[in-house]
Amino acid sequence: MSAVSYILREASARVAGASALTELDEIRIHYLGKKGELTSLLKSLGKLPPEEKPAAGQVINAAKNELQNLLNAKKADLEKNIADINLEKESIDVTLPGRGSAQGSLHPVSIVQQRIEDLFLHMGFSLERGPEVEDEHHNFNALNIPEHHPARAMHDTFYLENGLLLRTHTSPVQIRVMSERGAPLRIISPGRVYRCDYDQTHTPMFHQVEGLWLGDGVTMSELKGLLDKFLQSFFEHDGLAIRYRPSYFPFTEPSMEVDIKINSEYGITGWLEVLGCGMVHPRVLSNVGIDPRESSGFAFGMGVERLAMLKYGISDLRLFFENDLEFINQFGR
Ligand code: PHE
Repeated sequence: MSAVSYILREASARVAGASALTELDEIRIHYLGKKGELTSLLKSLGKLPPEEKPAAGQVINAAKNELQNLLNAKKADLEKNIADINLEKESIDVTLPGRGSAQGSLHPVSIVQQRIEDLFLHMGFSLERGPEVEDEHHNFNALNIPEHHPARAMHDTFYLENGLLLRTHTSPVQIRVMSERGAPLRIISPGRVYRCDYDQTHTPMFHQVEGLWLGDGVTMSELKGLLDKFLQSFFEHDGLAIRYRPSYFPFTEPSMEVDIKINSEYGITGWLEVLGCGMVHPRVLSNVGIDPRESSGFAFGMGVERLAMLKYGISDLRLFFENDLEFINQFGR
């Protein structure tokens, strides 16, 4: 066997056995590099007699080409293997169970507010919203709470500049809607209200839902019927004990506070106030240009957090605003 075929055979065997790209490189240098075995053979052609040179040259070049082809093929092979190995390593097992994503849920105050809204919307009320930054006219004066009225002191108002303030209740929405639309009206208005107060049962911001029913000859018996129905539905308890207690609000006359009797099942016992209400004061009606001899009606206002506390048996109002997920997640739906 000629030296060339011997070298080629040896080189082919090494290429076939190579398992890394660096190894292929070494083989290429060893045979085809500047000082490689086949290169040296080519160089030694000079020593041959001229008539033998072409044939010998052809044999060596053919061997070089063949080796180069083998190297290329093996290189492609190895590269594909590497890609396969990487793919294997990086591949995603789509059959693995997911890590699960936490699902958000509504805040208990939102849940209760929506429930109150739903119940009244079903009873034919429509929803109105008013601004949280109010003026003295809507929050107090038009509601028959003139300056220096003792009721103002009870409101612990946050005053802003330019005679503006953060509304202390949702009742100013009554004024806005009555002034704009007149009678008849049947609206509720949920939203945030603000009072400068903070303890176990008071937070500087809380939520109220205001209600107003104004029409021709709307009476207190309708007020009682409606609120009874609402409270029974809200607490999902037909036999709920409800008590109407005379009270005072400057914007209603007569005025009442409504208590419900809570049993120990809720953790709190006894009669507990849940809302304020009354027949809209004639002066409030004239303040918004409605003739009190033509229209009458009633209004009510309730605290959303208060109702949520009673419904869920929560004794500290502040829990609603501390954003402790363990607390909040109990109410998700
Ligand atoms: N606005 C009163 C309050 O915040 C509640 C209320 C509303 C009472 C409507 C009577 C009628 O305490």
